[in-house]
This record gives sequence, C-alpha cells and structure tokens, in this order.
Amino acid sequence: MDKVQFKQMKDGTRDEYEFLTAHEIEYTKGTADRLLAALEHLDEGLSGYQITRMQHSTQAATRAWRDGADIDWVVSALLHDIGDIFAPYNHDEYAATILKPFVREQCRWCVETHGDFQMLYYGHYLDGFDQNKRDRHRGHKYFDDCASFCEQWDQSSFDPDYDTLPLSFFAPMVREVFARQAYDPSVTGAPDRPLNDAQVAAARLAD
Ligand SMILES: [Fe+2]
Ligand SMILES: [Fe+2]
Repeated sequence: MDKVQFKQMKDGTRDEYEFLTAHEIEYTKGTADRLLAALEHLDEGLSGYQITRMQHSTQAATRAWRDGADIDWVVSALLHDIGDIFAPYNHDEYAATILKPFVREQCRWCVETHGDFQMLYYGHYLDGFDQNKRDRHRGHKYFDDCASFCEQWDQSSFDPDYDTLPLSFFAPMVREVFARQAYDPSVTGAPDRPLNDAQVAAARLAD
C-alpha cells in the first residue's frame, strides 16, 4: 500500500490505519530537521532589531550553553521564539507546545510564560501593555527560573557584537531532544535543573 483508499475517515480499515501510523512514525523522525529549517526562516522575519530573530535565537542558546545549562535548557532557549512565524500573538505557547513532549516541565513552563515575563523590559513604554504581567505567575515554583531565563538569555540576546555560535552547533542537540520518546515520563518529569553554574554552586552551598 502506498496510499489509503478511504475518502472519509469513518470508512478506513485497520490495515489502512496501521499503514498510516507507521507512516507518521517515519515522518516524526524528521521533526528536528524541520524545526532547524523553520529557525532559518526566522532569519526573514521581524525587522527593526539589530539582529535577526534567528540570530536572537542562537544567541540565547549560546548564552545558555556558556552558562553551563543542560541540553533541555539550551534547546528550549534556541526554540523559544519559533512561534513568531505562525503565532505572533501567542508565540510563547506555540513554542511550548512543540517542546512539551520532549523536555522537562520546568523548561516547557518557562518557554510558555516567557512572553509575560519579557514585558518587564518594555511594557511601561507601550499603551495597553502591563510591565508587571509576570506577577500573575508569582508563587509558581518556576517563577524565578523564568525570570532568570528572560534576564540572562532572552532580553540580553539582541547584541550584534556578541560571539554567537552558529545554528549548526546546536543541530545535534535539537536532533537528540526530538529523538526522545514523546511524553516519556522520565523526560517530561525529570528533576529540575539550574540555569547556570552560579545556581549550581549556590545550590551546593545550600546543601
Ligand atoms: Fe519571545
Ligand atoms: Fe526572545
């Protein structure tokens, strides 16, 4: 079989659905490469900044990498704005949805809410924006992580003079994360990790 016969799903057979499932599993193996290609499209969008959205993404990931953050953080930093292409009004949720089956909850949550936290840096300059929108998340166990994510990696990554690593450097990490078993509880429920070496050191001192 190379195509099903049905024209309405309700007429499909077991053989056809088993064929389609195998087909989809094969297709999902290309997710990482499709995401990497989408990141390159970010190069074309959103003019006005000194660097492109793709450069912003790789710069955020570079900062995460140099801070000693683990692969879930680095890939989350790389993809955090990928929703800018198709979801300009909820780009954070869009990126979090892509990451959700493949990274731990700590990272997913920070990507999903980073838009609210980022308003801290510009909300007071614009009508209709709330600089303190992040306050609705106060008390959440990942509030401080998201505040650090934005302060250290997101708002800081618009610098044309920063020595940003190329997308190709991060490609193997993206492939590794998206080759994981989707929704594997040992991944999505993995223990929280600090964002950087300073937090690691602080945690060790507190022990
Ligand atoms: Fe963003
Ligand atoms: Fe960003």
